[in-house]
Parts: sequence; structure tokens; C-alpha cells
Amino acid sequence: MKKILFLVITLCYYSQVNAQTDLQKAEALIKKMTIEEKVGQMTQVTLAVIAKGGWGNQDGALDAAALKKAIIDYKVGSVLNTTAHALSVDTWREVITQIQDETKNTKLKIPVIYGLDGIHGQTYTLNSTLFPHSIGMAATRNPEMAAAIAKVTAKELRASGVRWNFAPVLDIGRQPLWSRFPETYGEDVYIGKTMGAAVIKAYEEDGLKNPTAVASCMKHYLGYSASRTGKDRTPTYMPEIEMREYYLPQFREAVKAGASTIMINSGEINGEPVHASKYLLTDVLRKELGFQGLIVTDWEDIKRLHDRHNVAATPRQAVVMAINAGIDMSMVPSDFSFYDLLLEAVKKGEVPMSRIDDAVKRILVLKYKVGLFDNPYPEESAKNNFGKAEYQTLALDAAHEAMTLLKNQDNVLPLSKNVKVLVAGPSAQSISALNGCWSYTWQGKEEQWYPADSKTILQAIIDKLGGNNVITTTGKGFDNPLNYDATKLGASGVDAIILCVGENAYAESPGNTRELALPDEQLALAKAAAATGKPVILVLTEGRPRFITGIEPSMKGILMAYWSGKKTAEAIADVLFGDYNPDGKLPFTYPRSMGEIVLYDRKPTEEIREVFNDNISNGYDPLFPFGHGLSYTTFEYSDVLLSSPSLSSSSKLTINITVKNSGSRDGKNTVELYTRDLYASITPSMKRLRAFQKISLKAGESRKVTFTLDKNDLAFVNAQLKTVTEAGEFELMIGDKKAKFIYK
Ligand code: BGC
Repeated sequence: MKKILFLVITLCYYSQVNAQTDLQKAEALIKKMTIEEKVGQMTQVTLAVIAKGGWGNQDGALDAAALKKAIIDYKVGSVLNTTAHALSVDTWREVITQIQDETKNTKLKIPVIYGLDGIHGQTYTLNSTLFPHSIGMAATRNPEMAAAIAKVTAKELRASGVRWNFAPVLDIGRQPLWSRFPETYGEDVYIGKTMGAAVIKAYEEDGLKNPTAVASCMKHYLGYSASRTGKDRTPTYMPEIEMREYYLPQFREAVKAGASTIMINSGEINGEPVHASKYLLTDVLRKELGFQGLIVTDWEDIKRLHDRHNVAATPRQAVVMAINAGIDMSMVPSDFSFYDLLLEAVKKGEVPMSRIDDAVKRILVLKYKVGLFDNPYPEESAKNNFGKAEYQTLALDAAHEAMTLLKNQDNVLPLSKNVKVLVAGPSAQSISALNGCWSYTWQGKEEQWYPADSKTILQAIIDKLGGNNVITTTGKGFDNPLNYDATKLGASGVDAIILCVGENAYAESPGNTRELALPDEQLALAKAAAATGKPVILVLTEGRPRFITGIEPSMKGILMAYWSGKKTAEAIADVLFGDYNPDGKLPFTYPRSMGEIVLYDRKPTEEIREVFNDNISNGYDPLFPFGHGLSYTTFEYSDVLLSSPSLSSSSKLTINITVKNSGSRDGKNTVELYTRDLYASITPSMKRLRAFQKISLKAGESRKVTFTLDKNDLAFVNAQLKTVTEAGEFELMIGDKKAKFIYK
């Protein structure tokens, strides 16, 4: 024990010393820099600016004159993104090498830092391994697995020469209309904090000089996901008490976990664009949360202070506002206007040199930290970490654990392998509808860029049953008209219909939707399938809950598959035919309809529905509740034992519970601990998730699961915006078991 402690202290000491050295080096370098060089470092452009043919570029070839202009004339410090689609590992390495070569022609030879969005695996490298989106990872309730995936993502980025990942998204998914819902960890604060911190540590913990690590970027600070309309980048109105209770904790935790960078919300809160908010960027993020790293804007967001948000009368004023609020680097990204305007603003004294030096210091520290000054080129050893066979296994494990069985009437599932099935619906022969956004292209819709061995659901089912036992009414691609012909479903001679519906891939604004109900033509398919009298299994491949309330009663089985990456199809088939016992749990509330959107951590007045002369407790009445997820086995909870009837500010409460696999199959179960504060100065939630543990139990096996709570686990934000734990009685809930304790 002592040895471990000594080692930890020594490591902390040395990482501290290293950080200081990076800082000292950065400070020394800044002294040699001209104002132009400094402003250049703060400028980030997109690859199209330096690629031959701009956005239309297909092969990663750079335009020598454009590259020179960017690096020599404008001294840009950072490049991001791809052009039309993902590039090969070798092409990326060539792109980065050429950029770094050009930096050698500058006076100070400051390397460029390249950033990409590796959102669910490395998005923009061909044949990278894609994993479930965060919404599916939240369903796994498996932070260790999320961490393992982050490590693979880091390796595949780094193999491609890239040391900065624009992930993870820490926005909370409390607005199911939001087009970026699939990129979130769902509606719960604790899951978001736990998953986010695990992933950030995994990206960075090897030490950023190591070719197995990348700098992470927590995003999008703050309140992005809470837009009123649910449309991308539209206004959020949010009282600070709500912001601090539900939206800020994930970022606070991520700062503690050591995130190196942060990206800002393109939207506005209470009428103030976040990019112009000195309060949020400097007072809260820097001073209160103690964040020391780099603050980068999102896409074009400084310009937009002028031309979309209309809070800056001129483009220069927009630059002045953002930099003075605390922005360090501008994702301009399509021209050099930011450079010219910032230079002008500094010369006019509108932005103090101290602010510029502060920003540049943070940029240079990051570049030192990721080892770019030691070697700016893609490391030879990093390349070997690309595309290992074990990543495919991890992708399958993760897709398995994401699968969430929502309904299994009369134990219709698993299906026997001796049946004949009809496979129908638009996602049956779509790859993009299984992977979603950020998959080899931004929108993820262009299937020609996916790995050749990607499987469709139809193919994965044929692999199980043999071609003679599977018929289909579908054609290739989500939008294929064949997929929507409801008249074809009456095929006789099948034992069941597997109906694959949901959403095709989308990202950001193209994912805005006017309607959360599943589209009419898909609902019509489901009705036609049910009308055949055959058992219908509904498979949902979607990034957010699309209402299925009208068809749910006539579906025998419903499997939520999310967008679970490369192995989605295989995982679906494994669950449907019993080769995997599902264990995913919904990370959000699956609502019935637009008028029934109540979140699980509802307040008492949402729980108790007022009706004339009476009140009934069914205010939370979703189609499927948060935390729901069936298994092919059964789990029983018993013997909740508390170490004490009370908890004080200095003590801890230990809770033991026995979990038994009382069914006949081995399986995994996530044990979730919720608490409820019975009375408090701010209306308490009916329940809040405080801890979870995922365990694996053989049929018949029992295990004791132990949780520990302290006062911080029970805290909330009070009317004075302080996080407090108030004395009083609490209820604790684990499955169907409850217990009470006092906090004093
Ligand atoms: C998105 C960010 C992303 C950036 C760079 C923006 O449109 O909002 O999440 O990191 O583009 O690709």
C-alpha cells in the first residue's frame, strides 16, 4: 500500500514538474514572438483552406501555395477537419507531414496542432473502428468499456498523425428533439459525469507525449443541448440554478479528470451568446472550475456574434468580444479574417496584450504537452496501433452491451434458429442507419466510405439462419422505395417478422426535425406487419426516441439498438437469436408523445397529476422509463443493509444488497442506486441516480453489491446557487427495494 502511495506521489510530482517545464518553455517562447505570430497561433482553419480544390478535395492533396499562405503569411497555429470524407491512415500522415514541413520554414518553427472529431471511434480515417455513439455507451452503464473505446480512438487518431480529439460531448440529453441527442450520455447528470470523466482520463492518462494518447476536448460548454426548440444552435433560456444542477457538473468533473481543452456552445443562453460570455468563460470556467487548458470556439462562432447573433455591430467587435471574454483559439475556419481583425484590434488597444499572451501561452503549453516540439510528425510506432483485430472484438462487446430490450411479450425472444423470418423496414439493408453521424463523413450517410466488411441487419440474420430461411421485402439503402411498400408484408410461410425502423444518419442542423413520432410510412409498415398476424419484432436503430406509442401494443418484441457502430447488425442478430443475453438500460426516458415529456428525475408536482377532485401519482408515464431494459434471465434483489441509520458530514454510508440471478441463463445486470430527499428547501426530485454497478452473474448465482455514499452524493444547488446537503430524511431505492436514512 505504502509503495503504491509513494509511486502515486512521485508520479504526481513529476507530472507537476513536467507541466511547469512546459509552461516555462511556453513563456520563454512567447517572449520571442511577434504580435503577428501570436495572433497566428490563435487562428485555426479547416483543411479545405489548404487542400487542392477546397471542399471538393477527395484525396487529401494539399495546395502548395495555399499551404504557404496559411503557414508563412498567416502563421496559423492549428488546422482541423477533413474535406469531403475520411482519408486513409497514410494520406493523413502525409497531410500532417506536409503541414509540419512547412512550419519548418517559419522563424520559430512552431508546429501546427491538428484536431479531428473522433466522436464514436476515429470518424475521419478510412477503416477505423466505429463504436456505439455515447447514447448507446450510456446504455451499457459500463464506464470501463467506454474508457477502453476511448483508448482505441486515441490510438487510431494518433496513428493518423492527429493529437487532438474534439470529444467527448458532455451536453446532457434532456431535450429529445435535439439533433445531437445521440452524441450525449442521455438525461442523467451522474451518468454524464461518470462516463465523461472515464473517457477523458482514457484519452489522456498515458501522458500526451505518448503515441497512445490524445488531448481531449470537453464540449460544448455550456447549455447547448437545452435549446427551447430543440433545433441546433437555437437559444437556450435557463435559470442559473438549473444550469448548475444539470448542465455544469459534467464539465466540473471533466476539469478534475484533466481535460486539456474545451469547445464552446455555438448557441446563446438568456440572450447572451456563450462565445461572448465573460461570466461563463472566465468567471465560471477559469476561476470557479479552475480550468487551465485551451478554450477553442466552435465552427465560425466569432463571426456569428456579428452576422447571426447580432450582438457585435462589426466583425472586429465580434473578435474583441470573444477574445476579451476568454476565447484562446478561433475555429475561424474558412478564411483568415480573424487574424486580420484581431491584429487590428490589438493595435487599436481593444484587446490587451496580456490577454493575447495568456491565450498563446495555453496554446503553446498544449503543443508542448502533446510532444509536438519534440517531434511534430506522425510517429512510426503509432501506425502499428491502427486497425487491430481486437478493436473489432471490443466493438462487438460494446454493441452487445448497448442493446436494450424494451419489450418481450410472452418471451417471444430469443427466437429459435429453426425459424423462417421476414426482414423488413428501411434499416434492414442500411449501414448508415446503424452508425449514425460522424461516420467517415460528417453526416455519416455516404455508405461507400464504410469498411467493406460492414454488415447489414439482413446479412447478420442470414448468417444465423441461412439464406433459405430469410426473406426480405427491402432493397439496399435506407431511402430505397422498396423498403416502404407495406403491401409486400403479407408473405406467408414465415414464423416472425423482424421490422427494422428508425432514423437514418444525421448530424447537427441537418438532423433538426419537426416531429418526434416515427415517420408515417414507417408506422404504416408496422401496422401492416402486425395485420399479418405473425409476431412482429421491432428493431429500432435511432439516435433519439421516436414515438412508437400507437404501434407498440401490436409489437411482440422491441429492441432498441441506437446507432451502435460497426457491429450493430451482428449485435442485433445475436440478441434476437439468443447468442447474447441483453443487458442495456435506457439512458433516457422513452416518451409516449410530445405532451408526455417528463424526465425521470421529475419533481413532486410532475409526479402527482392533478385531476378534478383527486390527485393521481402517474405524472411520470413514459412508454418506457429511464433505466428500463429486459434480460433473458431474471434478477432478484434482497437484504438491503445500511451500515448506519444515519450519515453525517464526516461519515460515509455503506449499503449492501444481494443480487441473485434467479433465471436459467447467465447474464449481466446493472444495479442502480437512487435517492430521494424527502423534504428540502428546493423542491426535491422524486429520484436521482447516485451510483451504479454492472455485474455478471451465472444462472443461479448470488452476489453482494456494495455502495458507499457521502454527503456530496446527496447534494443539490440551493436558492443561493450553493451546492449543499441539507439535514433530513432520505429514501434510498435499489430496484424494488427501499430503505430510509437520516442525514444530520
Ligand atoms: C461542431 C463541433 C465540431 C466542429 C468541428 C462543429 O460544427 O459543432 O462539435 O467539433 O464542428 O468539426
